Amino acid sequence: MGNSGLSQLATRTGEPAVSWLMAMTLSRPSLISLAAGFTDSTTLPRLETERLLSDLLRSPKKGRAALQYGTTPGDPELRRLTARRLARMDNGESASGTPYDPGRLFITSGSQQLLYMISECLCDPGDIVLVEDPTYFVFLAIAQSHGVRCRGVRLNPDGIDLPALDHMLDRLRKSGELHRVKFLYLVSYHQNPTGATTAWAKKAEALRILRHYERAAGHPIYLLEDAAYRELRFHGSDVPSSLQASGAAGRVIYGGTYSKPFATGVRVGFGILPQRLHQVALRLKGNHDFGTSNLLQQLVRSALASGVYQHHLDLLRARYAAKANALCRALRAHFPEAVVWREPTGGLYVWARLPHRIRTGTGSKLFQGALRHEVLYVPGNLCYAKDPTRRRPDHEMRISFGGESTRNLAEGVARLGLSLEEILTQVVA
Ligand SMILES: Cc1ncc(COP(=O)(O)O)c(C=O)c1O
Repeated sequence: MGNSGLSQLATRTGEPAVSWLMAMTLSRPSLISLAAGFTDSTTLPRLETERLLSDLLRSPKKGRAALQYGTTPGDPELRRLTARRLARMDNGESASGTPYDPGRLFITSGSQQLLYMISECLCDPGDIVLVEDPTYFVFLAIAQSHGVRCRGVRLNPDGIDLPALDHMLDRLRKSGELHRVKFLYLVSYHQNPTGATTAWAKKAEALRILRHYERAAGHPIYLLEDAAYRELRFHGSDVPSSLQASGAAGRVIYGGTYSKPFATGVRVGFGILPQRLHQVALRLKGNHDFGTSNLLQQLVRSALASGVYQHHLDLLRARYAAKANALCRALRAHFPEAVVWREPTGGLYVWARLPHRIRTGTGSKLFQGALRHEVLYVPGNLCYAKDPTRRRPDHEMRISFGGESTRNLAEGVARLGLSLEEILTQVVA
């Protein structure tokens, strides 16, 4: 039969790289995975969760409520606690800063759901989203699935290059495509994949630049700030979110998550949206799942209200600082000097740039050699949009210090170093 009967969306959707990376990590126990974005298993709050859940379920009233369906926007108290926590992060501990309205906030099934829903809310096939170059590769897969074209904006160590953003928008205006640009997507804290954190002034200026082009676009151009790694900071101080920038209330979509800082298996995230978009997104969420798992929301709510969350986060930060240290020590010991990387200040990743002549993609000798040595990394090219205006770089890799033990991190990097050495000697010979 000539026709598969599948929708255009299903036909467009390729196998997401994240699925096979996760599957390979879980199915080959001998493999050291420096690829998967898993968090540190030994620090997952098992006992804390057991206690919080049994407290919750011991009370007939609270227990039954938690086991019942909730509402589409999510538990009001969890939304209130989340809005307050975020306002404190943005304004410091002083109560004088602007509180965020929990009425503009809704709970999502992981922040992944927010990314998906925003793409659905704003984009039709052929539309354009501006992304950091490189960016979170799972977001690129969402865009691809929706027939959305991504355009990569150069990324510097302190966030996107603003003249490059301006230039890109100007070029799209001149080519008559500006009306297809719907939003700019920034992973602004300890970015996945590079570890870069965007300076606050850059976020504010990016928003100003987007607004400058809105008249020519004929519609709002939003800034989607994905703050998935914000709370996993272990060096330096926090940076306020773009919610604090001038004009943010009508244009900034802020996505956060409790996955990384508490438990990745819980997958409770949230979004703060401009009022108009908030209503539309809730209609979509009603169709997706009419509410994130109520039991898991109650768990996160109890963790926040009891102080368990903050206590756990403090432990986690120290743990990741130590793991990042171990990884960097191993990189210094086993990687040739020609490989460039930065020490992370938070998050779960180190981005390594190899000499241009060394390919890192899945078909490359290096990737295959690394697999033979039982070590996995994320090929850098997966993190670049398919943007016809430039070639996709293919000489970088994302290395995660999240999931593996300190010992395995050292061993994994040693194996990667060995694979690299084999390639380098072949290239020279
Ligand atoms: C940048 C970024 N955003 C969002 C997510 C989704 O996380 P979750 O759905 O668990 O909140 C991830 C997960 O790795 C991520 O790296």
